[in-house]
Amino acid sequence: MNIDDAALDVTDAAIIIDGMSKTFVSPSRTVDALRDFSLSIDGGQIFGLLGPNGAGKTTLVDILATVLLPTSGTARVLGHDVVRDTAKVRERIGLCVGGAYFFYNLTPREILTYYGKLFDLPASRRTRRIDELFDTFGITAFEHARFSKLSTGMKQKVGIAKSLLNDPEMLFMDEPTTGLDVDVAREVRAHFKRLVEEDGKTILLTSHQLFEVEELCSTIAVINDGRKVVEGSIDDIRRELGFPDAIRLIVDGDVDLDVLRSLSAVTAVDRDGDEVVIRSTCAFDTVMDLAGLVREKRLPVVDMEVRKSSLEEMFTSLVRGDGTG
Ligand SMILES: Nc1ncnc2c1ncn2[C@@H]1O[C@H](COP(=O)(O)OP(=O)(O)OP(=O)(O)O)[C@@H](O)[C@H]1O
Ligand SMILES: [Mg+2]
Repeated sequence: MNIDDAALDVTDAAIIIDGMSKTFVSPSRTVDALRDFSLSIDGGQIFGLLGPNGAGKTTLVDILATVLLPTSGTARVLGHDVVRDTAKVRERIGLCVGGAYFFYNLTPREILTYYGKLFDLPASRRTRRIDELFDTFGITAFEHARFSKLSTGMKQKVGIAKSLLNDPEMLFMDEPTTGLDVDVAREVRAHFKRLVEEDGKTILLTSHQLFEVEELCSTIAVINDGRKVVEGSIDDIRRELGFPDAIRLIVDGDVDLDVLRSLSAVTAVDRDGDEVVIRSTCAFDTVMDLAGLVREKRLPVVDMEVRKSSLEEMFTSLVRGDGTG
C-alpha cells in the first residue's frame, strides 16, 4: 500500500479515500464491490452517500469503520489509516447499520452496558450516558425488554443509541432511519443536525430516502456498481448536469406557446388544460421575461410556481444506463 503520509497529514478532511477497491471472492462468484474509489470528505457536515441496492455503500462504510479490509487502496479517518490504526479509528467513530442486530436475549440496558464496558467508560459516566441516550431516543420505556421481543423501530433506536455511546467525532450511519416511524425518523434527523451544528461532529449517511438526504446533506457522492459517479454539492450537481427547473403556470385563456419557447433559458414548454409547464435552465431569467410578458402583452397567467429538480430526479438519471456516469 503506497501512502504519502506527509501529504495526507496536512489536510483537514475528516475522511480521505484513495483508490479503494474491494473484491469479494467466493467459490461461486467474484464481486467487485468497490472499483478504484476515491473521495475526500470535509469534517463538520452530514455527507450523503447515495447509490442503488448493491452499489457498494455498505462495503465502503464497513471498510471506513474498520469492519472490513479493503482489497487495495487506502483510507484515512480523522487522520488514522483504517488498516494500520484500527484501534485509533474505533475509539473515535460510531457505526450504526440499518436493521441493527444485537444479542437477542439481552435487554437494551444490558446491550449498551456491554458496549460501554468495551469502550472502557467508567461505571458512573456509562450509566449517565446510557440514561441520556435512552431519554433522547425514547428507549427508557422498553429498556428492560429482551432485544428479540422488540419491534423493528425499537431495535433501530437501540442501534442508534449504541453508535453514540462513546460520543464519537465521526459517525457512520448506514440507513439509520430504516424501520422508524415518521415521527421518530424526524426526531433522529433533528438529533443528527444538532450533533453536527452544535457539537461539530461529522456524519457519513447512506439512505434510500432521498428527501432525507436533501434535508440533511449539502454535499453528496453517488456510487453505482462500485464506482463513483459524481460528487459535490447538490446545487452544483444540479447545475453541472443541466437539470432544468420547472416553472408551472396556471393560465386562463389563449397562450402562444412559441412565444414562451423563445424566452430566456427555456428548453421546453408543454400545455395540459389550464396548466403550462416551462422547463428552464435558469428559472430566474425566465421568470423575469415572463413578468414582462404578463404586464405588457397581458398574458393570462393566474398563478405561477417555480420548482427545482428534486434529488430524486437527478439520482434516477445518474444511475440509469451503464452506471459509469
Ligand atoms: N460479504 C460479502 N460477500 C460477497 N459479496 C458481498 C458481500 N458483501 C457485499 N457483497 C456484494 O458487494 C456488492 C455491494 O454490496 P453492498 O452491501 O456494499 O451494497 P449497498 O450499496 O450497501 O446496497 P444496499 O443499498 O442494498 O444496502 C453487492 O453485489 C453485494 O452482493
Ligand atoms: Mg447497504
